[in-house]
Amino acid sequence: MRVLFVCLGNICRSPTAEGVLRHQLQAAGLAEQVHVASAGTGDWHVGKAPDSRTCKAAMVRGYDLSQQRAQQVNVAHFAEYDLILAMDESNLSHLRAMRPQSAPGELDLFLRRYGAKLDEVPDPYYGGAEGFEQVLDLIEEACKALVVEIKGRL
Ligand code: 4NP
Repeated sequence: MRVLFVCLGNICRSPTAEGVLRHQLQAAGLAEQVHVASAGTGDWHVGKAPDSRTCKAAMVRGYDLSQQRAQQVNVAHFAEYDLILAMDESNLSHLRAMRPQSAPGELDLFLRRYGAKLDEVPDPYYGGAEGFEQVLDLIEEACKALVVEIKGRL
């Protein structure tokens, strides 16, 4: 199974989701069976490591994001991933507009799909440290439900 998380810049929210899901899959013994990646709808940060504030907040909770590099989402991703999960409504609209009609995989809003308190992961880029903690809280919770779904699909 292949899962792709998508946000705007691919340096804050979706790299966090990639790291958290990979960690939870490892703990569940499923890491070998699921390919996890992330991408951004924008191209400003392509090739860069995640935002230093994102890396720092993630590291405190045991997630090492330092090896990740930003990429821009492209049409080929729709053929390669079974599940593409958008961090907010704007990301979802962008993905819907570029999705080929024949795309076999599912496209959905990450938090809404897993019944979280919020529908969208708020963009922490222009805010303070608490925003990065909220991103982690929301993503950790939703990833637990995603792992349950993955177990059922494997
Ligand atoms: P992300 O956050 O979409 O969670 O990676 C952002 C990162 C960079 C920018 C916006 C959002 N930016 O405008 O450069």
